[in-house]
Amino acid sequence: TFEVALARSCLTFQVPAGRTILDMIRENGVDMPSSCEQGACGTCLATVIEGEPDHQDVYLNDTEKRSGTKIMTCVSRARSARLVLDL
Ligand code: FES
Repeated sequence: TFEVALARSCLTFQVPAGRTILDMIRENGVDMPSSCEQGACGTCLATVIEGEPDHQDVYLNDTEKRSGTKIMTCVSRARSARLVLDL
């Protein structure tokens, strides 16, 4: 479990094992587009303001992954206890 805060929506929630960031964004009433939901298409991309993503996708390239500034919310998780997203 880790915590995700949505900076622009002023929302904070937990993401438990077995649920995705995308699921929890929607469960908290924020619209988020998606397509493949397998980390391949790029539709569910969010900008990371704070925290360290645990990238599980095949969409971002290695440089983008290392920079830690983008995350695919359908598959990726967090290495840090908390992520803050620009949503
Ligand atoms: Fe395709 Fe997340 S919906 S990468």
